[in-house]
Amino acid sequence: MRVIVTGGAGFIGSNFIRYILKKKPGWDITNIDALTYAGNLANLSGIEDSPKYKFIKGDISNPEDVERLFESEYDYLVNFAAETHVDRSLYEPGLFLKTNVLGTQLLLNYALEKRIKRFIQISTDEVYGSLESEGYFDESSPLSPNSPYAASKASADVICRSYSRTFDMPVIITRCGNNYGPYQFPEKVIPFFITKALKDEPLPLYGDGLNVRDWIHVEDHCDAILAVLEKGEIGEVYNIGGGNERTNLELTRIILEILGKPESLIKFVKDRPGHDRRYALNCDKIKAELGWSAQMDFADGLRKTVEWYLNNKKWCDDVISGEYMKFYELHYRERS
Ligand code: NAD
Ligand code: DAU
Repeated sequence: MRVIVTGGAGFIGSNFIRYILKKKPGWDITNIDALTYAGNLANLSGIEDSPKYKFIKGDISNPEDVERLFESEYDYLVNFAAETHVDRSLYEPGLFLKTNVLGTQLLLNYALEKRIKRFIQISTDEVYGSLESEGYFDESSPLSPNSPYAASKASADVICRSYSRTFDMPVIITRCGNNYGPYQFPEKVIPFFITKALKDEPLPLYGDGLNVRDWIHVEDHCDAILAVLEKGEIGEVYNIGGGNERTNLELTRIILEILGKPESLIKFVKDRPGHDRRYALNCDKIKAELGWSAQMDFADGLRKTVEWYLNNKKWCDDVISGEYMKFYELHYRERS
């Protein structure tokens, strides 16, 4: 199989490429990534020279780049490329629409013309909006996004749906919960708090710290995407969750405990505007239809993840620099 992976230099995309090269040694992967502040070729170190892997630097919202990509023939496309940080979407919503909506639509156009056999749109549980303490979202729950990021992902989902219904395109959408694991950019809460705690800096916990996220190890997510790619039904949506709901305060305490750091590092700060209270997914469909369920124990997965950041301090220092730091100084300074 010849597979396009978009956004393969980011957190989940790079983990997915590693996973596929291991699980499907006969497959050829082409990674197109614009290398934004979140994209990092160091995430793929060790596989650059694989004959099964090719990298194209390109922007999915740029027609010339996408045309160049499609000069070759492919079977599948998995679309990870996106602007992904909710906080950032409050300051640069237009960029989120450009990449996440227009970029996806451009890929759909080319994939349609080139008769791609499967187009997997990597979406998110955030498209469903927020839950209070009870209940779960299933695949038929209404889309009710609250942040510009979530709205851009929901828009891409409905555009994918329209291409599937109108043009009979082989599109499948996955909606996953919060991922954790190696190579996650330290703007997202787990690596952000690990890297802060290591420097004995305060961990800015938004609001009352009682917002709930459902955590899944990135390798479980990659495994679910492969199941969907190979066995998922065309035109369908699949929720993917780890079943590990934790309040942010609980999560922060566990991270501090693993690191042997004091809880006095926790600093409650002003809440994120529009902060979703709780995400929780019903994943019966993927379990019943594709036989997939998450395998990683949360305590083990988190401990291994913390160890990874401890062992990769240079990676952390290198990514927390340049463009990201300028943005941090401009907008996030108030958090610390
Ligand atoms: P990330 O921010 O770590 O990586 C995104 C990658 O996309 C980067 O390599 C970046 O350079 C690239 N990119 C950005 N704009 C691009 C463009 N215009 N053209 C080409 N490449 C571009 O993100 P992630 O956490 O790995 O998320 C990957 C996908 O999974 C996203 O679509 C996201 O919405 C979805 N998702 C993420 C999570 C999560 O918890 N991280 C959960 C569910 C779904
Ligand atoms: O649910 C899936 C989504 O998970 C993905 O679609 C997004 O791409 C990904 O960024 C993530 O979104 P969140 O907003 O949930 O992730 P983040 O790591 O930014 O925040 C997790 C929780 O931690 C959230 O409730 C906000 C809180 N938080 C975050 C940061 C960065 C803090 O309390 N303090 C912080 O400094």
